[in-house]
Amino acid sequence: MKVRKAIFPIAGLGTRFLPATKALPKEMLPVVDKPLIQYAVEEAYAAGIRQMIFVTGRTKRAVEDHFDTAYELETELQLQEKSDFLSLVQSIKPRDMECIYIRQSRALGLGHAILCAQNIIDEEPFAVLLADDLFMGPSPVLTQILEQFNHYQSSIVAVQTISQEDTFLYGIISGDVIDTRTTVVKHIVEKPAPDVAPSNTAVAGRYIFTPAIFEEIAKQSSGVNGEIQLTDAMFSLLSREKLYAYHFEGKRYDCGTKLGLLKATIDLAEQHPDIGPSLRRWLREKTTNNRSQLLFKQENKKKDCMIT
Ligand code: G1P
Repeated sequence: MKVRKAIFPIAGLGTRFLPATKALPKEMLPVVDKPLIQYAVEEAYAAGIRQMIFVTGRTKRAVEDHFDTAYELETELQLQEKSDFLSLVQSIKPRDMECIYIRQSRALGLGHAILCAQNIIDEEPFAVLLADDLFMGPSPVLTQILEQFNHYQSSIVAVQTISQEDTFLYGIISGDVIDTRTTVVKHIVEKPAPDVAPSNTAVAGRYIFTPAIFEEIAKQSSGVNGEIQLTDAMFSLLSREKLYAYHFEGKRYDCGTKLGLLKATIDLAEQHPDIGPSLRRWLREKTTNNRSQLLFKQENKKKDCMIT
């Protein structure tokens, strides 16, 4: 079973980034110079996937425009002989990549978003990438779990260890550990409170499913936050198929939060060939200045204490 298709659920409102996301899809927020969604699409492409299925909603047209030919821009760049920019713009959608857009007309949850793509996926295994989750590491996380999928031929999800107090933010798994990175999932629950969470192993936003997941999603009624949860369908899947969890190698940034987006921006910018060196210098100067200011304040405080 070869994975040829990927689903990108992007219908979410992005309320955490308002007012920036009033008219702009949160998936179009940039990390340095590339929108979040492009990182996810490039990750899927690198894993050999060529059919990208976006489950969109209102106000997401910018995503479609981003992966479309920009005729006027390309003509202008050609006329100005700006060939580097031209190839950059053209590389966003390689010729052999197909983009399909489906509307999720009501925000009924992640599980429901995946179900919207059922007719296009049909009877094939497929990947799901949540663009909010951005990864950096030795190899793309989707490629890492795809290698495991090719080996086990069963659904698989990327996981990471988190601090116990954060379990309420994630899908949490537990199960039988079969090697340092792999677990056969026996239990999975969406956003449990820390005191009832089965572990501190959290689902990160990369999945590969066999088509059996669709039937399980269709059975679900609303779960956490009144939404049709993918995690609940994954729990039902356990009774008919094996589900694996793979501790990916690398770092995850939660770009669905302001702090996560900023951390990703700084880390990626530090490695950027053009701006990296100046940014690192500026950060060093800033840290030194902050430290001197702190020392200065501490010294003054000491002096004040001695006087009084
Ligand atoms: C979603 C999933 C959750 C998963 C998380 C990873 O939650 O429902 O199981 O752990 O993505 O980012 P969300 O972040 O959309 O609330």
